[in-house]
Amino acid sequence: MSFRFPARWEGRDHGPNPLSEALAARKAAGADLLDLNVSNPTAVGITFPEDWTGLLVGDSLRRYDPDPKGLRSVRDALAGYYSDRGESVKPDDLFLTAGTSEAYAHLFKLLCEPGDTILVPRPSYPLLETLADLAGLAFDTYPLILREDAGTVSWSIDRKSLTAQITDPSHTFRVLCVVQPNNPTGNILSPEDAAWLLDIASKHGFAVIVDEVFADYLNTEARTALLNSDGPLVFTLNGLSKLVGLPQLKLAWIHVAGNAADTGKAKDLLEWMCDAHLSAGTAPQLAAPELLRRRGEFQGPIRERIAENLQALREIAAANSRLKPLWPQGGWCLPVRCEGIQDDEEFAIRLVEEQGVLVQPGYFFDFEDDETIVISLLPEPEIFREGLKRLSLSLD
Ligand SMILES: Cc1ncc(COP(=O)(O)O)c(C=O)c1O
Repeated sequence: MSFRFPARWEGRDHGPNPLSEALAARKAAGADLLDLNVSNPTAVGITFPEDWTGLLVGDSLRRYDPDPKGLRSVRDALAGYYSDRGESVKPDDLFLTAGTSEAYAHLFKLLCEPGDTILVPRPSYPLLETLADLAGLAFDTYPLILREDAGTVSWSIDRKSLTAQITDPSHTFRVLCVVQPNNPTGNILSPEDAAWLLDIASKHGFAVIVDEVFADYLNTEARTALLNSDGPLVFTLNGLSKLVGLPQLKLAWIHVAGNAADTGKAKDLLEWMCDAHLSAGTAPQLAAPELLRRRGEFQGPIRERIAENLQALREIAAANSRLKPLWPQGGWCLPVRCEGIQDDEEFAIRLVEEQGVLVQPGYFFDFEDDETIVISLLPEPEIFREGLKRLSLSLD
């Protein structure tokens, strides 16, 4: 008798999509490919300091002395990192996890009943829908409004629409997610939107999750941290994956803020959850304080790379009026409007097949128009420039 998988997995198709098929065919044919989509920091020709390897072994083989919240030495180092950013964070309010996705999984369990709906921005990071799904949650998006004014791009929360969603009695919302800088728009919350959000979270009794994995990559002086709200529960996430470009270390953290009663309960439950998993590995934890201290050695070259690629994009976009980058306030990627393409997916497939250039169609991120694609700012500069030139040619 064959196994009866849960009904919720019925009809799921996690197979290839037309773009991944076109990509596989191109690779199988051995044809060249300029990947403007690469976001793996270890695969973009940035040399990591030789002695970082040594940091990873150290004492980790000899000692296992777990703390459910993560080693105190790491949480102290993290408090130091926030203090460098001008933010006051207590080690006791931090919980280490094996990556940000695990942090989301813990928080969804902590905050939601099965079937509750989480709210995430639109456009935003596509994995959030999968993570909600895996946690047995429903998923809804709240729109960000794009404003363009003489080359300046800004995104803000569509407050009217979000208010209507929150007050809709057919859903139970307990969690609203913010990603800042957002992936892929690169926007951060304005102070007004942040204050408004905390206010409605308080009024309607929901918690806010702020994903800050790109917080150290800002093209602006402004920063709207929600780390120290003493009102509604605010969980801020970050990790070594972007902070020092080492996703393979699988070390991330949750910072808990909010009023004393709610944070007390949330911290007890989180500690219990973390204790059940003890998933943050000793090796990355022992390396973390030194990696955090030396983060500039990774972030400097990455910032230079981003600046160089943004400059190339500026030049190429200046020569093609149909290529409209939506300039980001931060992050590692950005959306580019390709005027007149009519179908972002079809265009992305055509770029792979005819030009050997890989970009992501905007619909992956829930862009509502059909003219937006998303590119990474990390590719090696020659690849980035050549890929953009070919992309620009296909618009002529
Ligand atoms: C917004 C956002 N959050 C989280 C992550 C993943 O972080 P981690 O490697 O810690 O799971 C990504 C990866 O691209 C991301 O874009």
